[in-house]
Amino acid sequence: MTLRQQGAFFCLFLFLCSRNAWARVEVTMRKSVEVYLGDSAEIPCQYNFTEANSVPRFVMIQWFVKDQVSSSRIRIYYGDDDNQIVDEDTEYTGRIQVTSDQHGTQLTIQEVQLSDQREFICQVNGLSAGTTESKTHLSVFAPPEAPVIKGVQGGISVTNEMPSKVATCEARNGFPKSNITWYRNNIPLVSSAGRVNVWTGDTVESTGLYSVHSTLEYRVLKEDKDANFSCEVSFFVPGAIRTAESVSVGVTVHYPATMVELWRESPEGLIKEGDTVELRCQGDGNPTPTFIFSRARESGADEDLDSRGNVLMLQAVSRRDRGLYRCRPRDGTSHDDVKGEMELNVHYLDPAVVVPKESEAMLKGEDLTASCNALSSLKTSTVWYKDSKVVGVGNTLHLQDATYETAGEYVCEVTVPTLPTLHTSGSVHIVVHGGPQLVGDEQEVHLEEVVGKTVNLSCEARGHPAPGITWSFDGSQSWHEVFSESGDHMTYSVVSVPVNSDIRAMCNTSNDLGIDFRAFSIKAIPLVTSSAAFSPAEGSGVIIVVIILCLLLLAILGSVIYFLHKKGKIPCGRSGKQDISKEKTAKDDIVVEMKNNANAKSEDTVLLKAVNGDKNGTNEQ
Ligand SMILES: *[C@@H]1O[C@H](CO)[C@@H](O)[C@H](O)[C@H]1NC(C)=O
Ligand SMILES: *[C@@H]1O[C@H](CO)[C@@H](O)[C@H](O)[C@H]1NC(C)=O
Ligand SMILES: *[C@@H]1O[C@H](CO)[C@@H](O)[C@H](O)[C@H]1NC(C)=O
Repeated sequence: MTLRQQGAFFCLFLFLCSRNAWARVEVTMRKSVEVYLGDSAEIPCQYNFTEANSVPRFVMIQWFVKDQVSSSRIRIYYGDDDNQIVDEDTEYTGRIQVTSDQHGTQLTIQEVQLSDQREFICQVNGLSAGTTESKTHLSVFAPPEAPVIKGVQGGISVTNEMPSKVATCEARNGFPKSNITWYRNNIPLVSSAGRVNVWTGDTVESTGLYSVHSTLEYRVLKEDKDANFSCEVSFFVPGAIRTAESVSVGVTVHYPATMVELWRESPEGLIKEGDTVELRCQGDGNPTPTFIFSRARESGADEDLDSRGNVLMLQAVSRRDRGLYRCRPRDGTSHDDVKGEMELNVHYLDPAVVVPKESEAMLKGEDLTASCNALSSLKTSTVWYKDSKVVGVGNTLHLQDATYETAGEYVCEVTVPTLPTLHTSGSVHIVVHGGPQLVGDEQEVHLEEVVGKTVNLSCEARGHPAPGITWSFDGSQSWHEVFSESGDHMTYSVVSVPVNSDIRAMCNTSNDLGIDFRAFSIKAIPLVTSSAAFSPAEGSGVIIVVIILCLLLLAILGSVIYFLHKKGKIPCGRSGKQDISKEKTAKDDIVVEMKNNANAKSEDTVLLKAVNGDKNGTNEQ
């Protein structure tokens, strides 16, 4: 009750007291009635008389409203015992009904409009009881539509110093004006300088309803990237305040990277020269930053490297690519110390250097120390091989008291145990100089073989320069070499010789630095007497000799018989003189013949001399 109303009430009270002998009319109305737009509103108006026994016979009831513009009263209804009249040509004509009984009257307004939000005055006139009026304020409510929120498109940078627009919210067509409240993660946001600004406005639609809208400006921080913003509209309804909440929206927070990490994606493990190395960089900024890769130089300034996105590919790295690598966001807004760093180490193994180089000559009996070194960034292991057999471990190899066995190719294999794909090798060829030396211990080799067979004699000589082998034979001229071979440090020869009698042979080997020799003696074993043991080839020669001897014996026998016959020793009837001469001639013939058989050539010479002598003698005579 306002002060003015209290005053009016007080005056009325004085007035009633001064005339307390008469009945007076009292009117009671609700201060306000609340109703939804479009509904029917009922505004009751109760009245009674102070003197119950002097109720006037005639009561007049009138309903008024005030003109919105001129504030003058407009009657909308008149009623008494006989007439109930809704006034013509008012905005309520046809839209109101009034029902009355002895204690009161009630105004019913159909299809309440916004313009019905006003005061309705009920005046009761009881003639002698006087005229009294009261009023009720009709409040009209229209709940707004659900609030609609719109987040800003694009990102908001945390580098903005002042609050930035985050979202707008609108609640349309409400009455009376509704309020909009902003929430961040369901906690109300209150305006605060430099942090939160809320700009609210409203528009009156042609229908007279209000649309309220609000804009939230907010100083975005990195942690807001996951925050939810929503708006809530609160509005009056009859007898209450209601709220309706919007959906929530997020914001895209743009923030520079605060953390950057650089790591090696591949290959795993230790890196060696020739590998392709992939480095990757990642940071937490939004939008995802691209990066600049660089390598720290000795001089201090970084050298920027060509990269693609967040990947740096280093093709076929060498030891020159070792060093400290960095990546930093390209946007440049990040703090200087926001960067990723990593040390890249490239391991290497240089070709093995063998001392002595390539090939080295030693004299028999000498010592030699060979070394094999390969420069590496890692610990290496060296193994020496000769003819695929391990002959030494470690980078030095000691060769002591060289023999021809010492000669050959020495290969050193250098490996890196921690990085097995790194390996190299080198080699040295060792030549051992020395006079020839025949393989085998004996000075003289004794053999036995059956007459008629062949034997193979072999001789192998070691030495460098490669020794030559010569053979010499006593007792046989028909030997020949059937096999020979000559290497760096050896010569090998095989000769084949038929065994007809005992043979002595010499194998003589020599080079610039000396000689060596070996004797062979082959004892020829005679034929076994058993004829069964003869082979036909061996037997035939002997038979021919026997036959010839038999023929010869027969011839001699024949000659002796013939001689005896001529001499008469055998009585055959012939003269002895003739026989003697004949015998002599025959004897001479036989001698000549035999001589001829023995040595034809020398006999001719003798005969020739004899002829010449005879001639000479004749000439002298
Ligand atoms: C709207 O806000 C005003 C001012 O803070 C307040 O008086 C009123 O009651 C609020 N209305 C609603 C429906 O909350
Ligand atoms: C001697 O050597 C030659 C050639 O190697 C071979 O053909 C022959 O059979 C050998 N002779 C003997 C009796 O071993
Ligand atoms: C072996 O041959 C060498 C040269 O050919 C000669 O000087 C040497 O006297 C020979 N030795 C023998 C035992 O025949």
